[in-house]
Amino acid sequence: DWVMDDFAQEQIKALREKIGDKKVLCALSGGVDSSVAAVLIHKAVGKQLTCIFVDHGLLRKNEGDDVERIFKKEFDMNLIRVNAQDQFINALEGVSDPETKRKIIGEEFIRVFEAEAKKIGTVDFLVQGTIYPDVIESGTKNAAVIKSHHNVGGLPEHVDFKEIIEPLRDLFKDEVRNVGRAIDIPEFLVSRQPFPGPGLAIRIIGDITREKIAILQDADYIFREEVKNAGLDQEIWQYFAVLTNSKSVGVMGDERTYHYTIALRGVTSIDGMTADWARIPYDVLEKMSTRIVNEVGHVNRIVYDITSKPPATIEWE
Ligand code: XMP
Repeated sequence: DWVMDDFAQEQIKALREKIGDKKVLCALSGGVDSSVAAVLIHKAVGKQLTCIFVDHGLLRKNEGDDVERIFKKEFDMNLIRVNAQDQFINALEGVSDPETKRKIIGEEFIRVFEAEAKKIGTVDFLVQGTIYPDVIESGTKNAAVIKSHHNVGGLPEHVDFKEIIEPLRDLFKDEVRNVGRAIDIPEFLVSRQPFPGPGLAIRIIGDITREKIAILQDADYIFREEVKNAGLDQEIWQYFAVLTNSKSVGVMGDERTYHYTIALRGVTSIDGMTADWARIPYDVLEKMSTRIVNEVGHVNRIVYDITSKPPATIEWE
């Protein structure tokens, strides 16, 4: 994409002029927008940029390590990974209500980010991965808020900075991806499916424990692996596993089991506002089901979600 190649080169040049020898701070989530914004700035001013990556322990399997490896080792960026897993899990203890989970995670995120930023001291610029649809959305007085989409990476109030930089403000998502490709961000990151800020917290129905997180991470990993093996990863817009709060009776060998039900969710969509459930072939579903039950402990039943949005939402919480 020549247009986005040019955009990237012009932005890098403009950012270099604007930033000069000053310091920049960025909250990196590993999502497409914050990754592309951070790498653009890194190309412009290198180690003058510090990225803070808050690992809340509710990421997909291996995700925290992947983010750290790519940005620290491959891009040689100044990245601070904050391992705040315990803090988040403690704050969420006993909480089942979806909106309360979101609120706690949003607040905790800001707290952790601010504490880390404080150690760095005053910076001149704070990077935001805002893209054009975010600009439009926050400009309209939207109808009912069905879910409070606190995007992790919202604006902290107690960080010392002089100015916000939003290098992707005029771009649509597919343009952001092409900018990412132009600056050599690995394809799996650039074409990655949306992942909610509160992460697995809203995919574990009911209260959250370390054991449930581990079960869900393993089941979700297998599901995603089989979507990819079937060549469906670019066709299905978003796909993930949900740990339902229901246990049911099963049988394994001669033993009766009483274990969790995992729900698999896959949807096709343009923008997430409406969605249709993805028609995953039966033989692929069968393989997913067999593998998850055999390979993941405490799970004895798999269901596939066949509701569209509306009336359901994409996420279960
Ligand atoms: P729903 O479940 O509302 O989801 O149909 C639509 C899209 O939004 C994502 N989503 C979130 N993203 N914070 C986020 O950053 C959230 O709290 C949140 N809730 C839902 C969801 O993954 C889907 O892509």
